[in-house]
Parts: sequence; C-alpha cells; structure tokens
Amino acid sequence: MDRVTLSVIKADVGGFVGHSAVHDALKERARECLEAAGNLLVDFRVASVGDDLALIMTHQQGPDSPAVHELAWNTFVACTEVAKSLKLYGAGQDLLSDAFSGNVRGMGPGVAEMEIAERPSEPVVVFLADKTEPGAFNLPLFRIFADPFNTSGLVIDPKMHAGFRFEVMDVREKAVVTFELPEEMYDLLVFLGAPVRYCIRHIYSKELGEVAAAVSTQRLSLMAGRYVGKDDPVCLVRCQSGMPALGEVLEPFACPHLVAGWMRGSHVGPLMPCAVPQATPTRFDGPPRVVALGFQLAEGRLIGPQDLFADPAFDRARQQALEIADYMRRHGPFEPHRLHLEEMEYTTMPQVMKRLAGRFAPVE
Ligand code: F6R
Ligand code: MG
Ligand code: MG
Repeated sequence: MDRVTLSVIKADVGGFVGHSAVHDALKERARECLEAAGNLLVDFRVASVGDDLALIMTHQQGPDSPAVHELAWNTFVACTEVAKSLKLYGAGQDLLSDAFSGNVRGMGPGVAEMEIAERPSEPVVVFLADKTEPGAFNLPLFRIFADPFNTSGLVIDPKMHAGFRFEVMDVREKAVVTFELPEEMYDLLVFLGAPVRYCIRHIYSKELGEVAAAVSTQRLSLMAGRYVGKDDPVCLVRCQSGMPALGEVLEPFACPHLVAGWMRGSHVGPLMPCAVPQATPTRFDGPPRVVALGFQLAEGRLIGPQDLFADPAFDRARQQALEIADYMRRHGPFEPHRLHLEEMEYTTMPQVMKRLAGRFAPVE
C-alpha cells in the first residue's frame, strides 16, 4: 500500500445520560453507516469517550477528503436522528450547520488526520478526551516529543536525536507557526503554556521527514460565536522506530495535569487517564477524561484497539486525579477552579451587571 490516511472525526450528537456517555444505539448506527460506505474506507472503528462519538477511519483519499468528510457528516446526522428518537440529551449539539459544505472543519465536529507511508510495522495511539479542550494535549505532547526526562529516545536513539518540528495554531487568529526543537524550545513554551489560545496541531520528525502527531484544533465556541459544548479533542500519535516508544507516548499521562473544561466547560481540573469502560464522567460532569486506543496498522487495516490506560500502572494517576479533584472542588465557584472570567463558557455576568449597574458608586 502506497500512502494511507488515518482520519479521526468526532462529535457530540447526543448524550446518555446528560452529557456523560454515548448510547449503544448511536454507536450501532454509526457502524452501519460506515459499513455502508463500501470500499471508500479501508477500515474503521467506532469509539467514544464521555458524550463524544469518534469515527476512526483509514482510507486512501488523503486528508480533507470531501468524500470521507461527507461520510462522517452523514453518519453524525443519522446518529442525531437516533438520538432524537430516544430523546437523548443535546441531540445534534455539535452539528452547527444544516447542510454539508465540502469539509466538516468549521461545521462543529473535531478532526485530526494524518497521511503516512505505512512503515513495516506502524503502531499508533488514538487519544480521545472529554470535558476539556485541544490545548489539553500541549503539555503531554511537549513532554513526549521534546522532554528528554520523559523520552529517553531524544537522547539515545539516533533517529530521534535531531528532534521534532512543532506546528502551533493560534485558535483565535486562525494562524499557524512552526518551531524547530530543541533549538527553539523556550520560544515554543511561551505559547504552549497558554493552551486556551495556542494549541499544537501537528508534530513532524526531522529525521524521517514524516508527520508524527496530529491534534483536532477546532474551537466550537469560536466557530459558533456562542457556547455550544466544549471542544473535546482527539490526538493521534505514531510510535516506535524513530518515533517515541509506546511507553514514552503514554508516560506523561501518569501525571494528571490541570486542564480547562469539566463542569459547563468553565472549570479547571485534572485530566484523568482511564480505561474505556471508565470513560463516563459523572462527578461534577468530570473530572475530564482521556482514553488511549492502541492500533497496529496492517495495509491500512486497524488491528486493535488495545485499551492502553486499562493498565493498573495508571491506577496511581487515577487516584491522584481524584485527590486533585477533591481539592479543586473545595474552591466551589472561586478561581482558579472556576475559569478566569474571559474564558468561561457560561456566564451570568452581563445580566448581573445590568441589574446592579446603578449600585456601583464611584470612590476616590
Ligand atoms: C461540559 C458539559 C457539561 C454541561 C453541563 C450543563 O462540556 O458538557 O458539563 O455543560 O452538564 O449542561 P446544560 O447547559 O446542557 O444543562
Ligand atoms: Mg454533550
Ligand atoms: Mg463531550
């Protein structure tokens, strides 16, 4: 097989119960739709995390293929019909348009794609996260591809020693900028440390000249101009043979770092790595979750998934995430548990200010 494209397209088209999970009937409908696409796809898997439905597809149409994007769109529309018939919560919530217009980007769903020359053995990890935003992957991706204390391959693997190239998106200005690592590490961190605005979009291996990682950078609220659900992201990472080893790719998630999202997309909390059956955020609609699905590609076929965070080696991270969750929750509506005013997805501030307008007396 010449080149193969891995496309992961996700949307929340209805929750069961509330915003906590995807009903089996939606996943079943999604499988039927993708099956009916015949040989447009080489292979596919339907997965979910929290209330987000993810279509994991391989094909030879390249990234941004109108046919593949239309298939994903029509699948989400069909699943919305099922969600409506069951009166699931927020049916069709991420579909911002009535009609497909050539590419799902800008229409609500999140998209991460990479076109690759499949290596003799091609291990990939598909990360799916719920109750957070694309910038949540900045910290772990930096550690995977740039931190030698996480990834020993940067120091001792000749194919990784040259480092990686990071493409970062300014989601507000819709502009991308590229950094060469390790040379420009400090410049890169100026941006990555502000994940609400700057998100890693792609990472490339300098030595192999190939894409190594891709993240969905869609910001729903910026698209719609109002809150319509958080931008629960997906991220694809290639592993081994000049890319970070599987264990280096998973290692940063052993530290449940703080991310924006959680209840009403307006709080800060730990990103909890969990096994697929545990990916139903119900404590204060969280804490935010990430699952890791491991695949081997075989001529584009998806061999897997392996539920990578099911490993008890991540139990301590889960435990620590719960301790952090307890601590953060005690702050109630106070920052920094509640997000900064400008970053909140829900706010009553304009109404309250309007009502109190006359009561603010000027003082010296
Ligand atoms: C966050 C999320 C939930 C909802 C919350 C309120 O991304 O999906 O925390 O924001 O359950 O939902 P509504 O406003 O639909 O009642
Ligand atoms: Mg939802
Ligand atoms: Mg969600």
